[in-house]
Formats: sequence, structure tokens, C-alpha cells
Amino acid sequence: MIKVLFVCTGNICRSPTAEGVFRHLAGKAGIAGNFRIDSAGVSSSHTGEPPDARAIRTAKKYGVSLAGQTARNMTPADFSSFDYIYAMDGSHMRIMQGRQPCGSAGSLRMFLEKGDVPDPWYGDEEDFEHAYALINDGCTRILAQIRKDHGL
Ligand code: 4NP
Repeated sequence: MIKVLFVCTGNICRSPTAEGVFRHLAGKAGIAGNFRIDSAGVSSSHTGEPPDARAIRTAKKYGVSLAGQTARNMTPADFSSFDYIYAMDGSHMRIMQGRQPCGSAGSLRMFLEKGDVPDPWYGDEEDFEHAYALINDGCTRILAQIRKDHGL
């Protein structure tokens, strides 16, 4: 089982979208069963909430469901439980680096090869569209890379 975690601030916009898109792409490729896919936030301010309605709506437009997701805060155990941990922006990377327990595997990566997925939370529909496009591209690249790494 390959364990993949996406991390953003509130776990209601970017990382749930990445979780949904990645699951969708793995499903389309017929390899969803090889993965445990999850997401979390570095903040607990939205713990227990479903994804933001705008994120749900945008994903749905592209045939991706965020159903069943509930926001949670990242835990210390996540650092050793997941093989790949993706920071949606640089602030999440810095926070995780600060919290990473000594001796946990160096599994932290930036979600995009270059730059951040901007926070759409204070934005409008267009910002959610932009974030979605970046997330779709990022998940496509990450899935291809993991497939290569694992001969899937
Ligand atoms: P996310 O968006 O990190 O993509 O889930 C945000 C959600 C909530 C807040 C910030 C970003 N907030 O400040 O409450």
C-alpha cells in the first residue's frame, strides 16, 4: 500500500481537492487499490467540517467527488504513517518541517514543482478554478511519478 497525504491550512479547500482528484485519477488508471489517500490541515480551525462548498462545486464540475471527507488536523503520527506528504504551499512546508519529529522519514515534498497552490479561501469562483487546474496538473504529475517509482 502506498500512502499519500496532502496538507494545506484548513483541510477544507486545497488538500481535500487534491485528495479527491488523486483518488479519481488512480481510479481511472485502475490502481486505486494500491493507495491509501488522505488529506489534513496544519490548523484545527475547521476540524470536523466537510470541504468548502465552492471546492465541492468546482470538483463536481470536473466529475470529481469530495464526498465523505471531513477536515482534520495533521498529527505527529502522520509523519511516519505516510510515504509521501505533499505541502500545497510553502507555508505548509515550513510548518511541517518545524513539527516533524526527529527520526521520521524525509517524506515531505512540495505539491507543485514550482511555487504554491494559492489559497482560494478568501477568493471567488475564479480562484477556485485556478486552484483546481493547478491541483489537477499536480496530481497528474505526482501519480505518474509514483507509478514510475513503484513500477505500477
Ligand atoms: P485550505 O483553505 O487551506 O485550502 O483549506 C483555507 C481554509 C481556511 C483558512 C485558510 C485557508 N482559514 O484561515 O480559516
